[in-house]
Amino acid sequence: MTNTATTPETEAALHTMLSDVVEGLSQNRKTLPSKYFYDERGSKLFDDICELDEYYVTRTETALIQQQVGDIAAAVGSNALLVEYGSGSSLKTRLLLRNLIAPAGYVPIDISGDYLSQVGHSLQAEFPHIEIMPVVADFTKSFEVPSPTSKESRRVIYFPGSTIGNFRREDAMALLVGMAENAGAYGGVLIGVDLDKDRDVLRAAYNDSQGVTAEFNLNVLKRINDELGGTFDLSKFKHEAVFNDGRSCIEMHLISTERQTANVCKYSFEFEENESVLTEYSHKYTIHAFGEMANEAGLNVKNVWTDANNMFAVMYLERA
Ligand code: AVI
Repeated sequence: MTNTATTPETEAALHTMLSDVVEGLSQNRKTLPSKYFYDERGSKLFDDICELDEYYVTRTETALIQQQVGDIAAAVGSNALLVEYGSGSSLKTRLLLRNLIAPAGYVPIDISGDYLSQVGHSLQAEFPHIEIMPVVADFTKSFEVPSPTSKESRRVIYFPGSTIGNFRREDAMALLVGMAENAGAYGGVLIGVDLDKDRDVLRAAYNDSQGVTAEFNLNVLKRINDELGGTFDLSKFKHEAVFNDGRSCIEMHLISTERQTANVCKYSFEFEENESVLTEYSHKYTIHAFGEMANEAGLNVKNVWTDANNMFAVMYLERA
């Protein structure tokens, strides 16, 4: 590893990244985990994606929440503790916090402590009457939800953005089961779900004309080079996003444009011409299919809000 690992946490994170990369690139069908898109540059690229004309996801969900926030707040009910899986920096979170009825508190969960503390401070300044209790944790693992000072009526897990779509079905199930557990008795889950739709719309959203998604995808190789001393030649990989009908998901790939070798630490990986590295799934659900998965995880669908074109759904699920 090339860069100066200053803290034990950074060093541990680099070791995990190295073992994930080695594991993914050692398979017959090579893969790299999509979570490695998101360093500072990758997060900025993702913000840029959200502004693209072709990428309907963020603007559709935000407009939907804007329109339905009164009904959403009524479904969540008064004195709820809102627990967001993710940093809580989005406009959608602010919309909710502005409209929830006397929330007992707000708990953003994120793996990045520095980022979370910035977000926590700015939200506390903007919402002085709401108790903000950030928790540094990986929400795919188990963690403790803190109790607010004022009495909570229920806990509601908030997971916007259709990030659930980036998990394989079995992992999405496990995440929903964990949400149901964290929500506890009388609790709920408020979740954004990107819906199955016209294939051309989907393909355009993930193969944008300005090449921002391509940069975002290639960022995983850049990080391997920068953080693990990898030797990937980024000009010899191209971005491709295809729709997999069988799994109902977009798959993002990095395609090797020629036969080549790349090294990462002491490991060497061979790539054939046109060989792919699968970097991300983005599942698109029907309301029915998502409802079935929620049921299996012990959650009942209480409310579904969709936009006029049925592009996106915000669902409120309750513990069965
Ligand atoms: C974060 N997630 C919901 C995005 C998606 O649409 O699956 C990530 C993304 N990948 C390419 N563009 C956006």
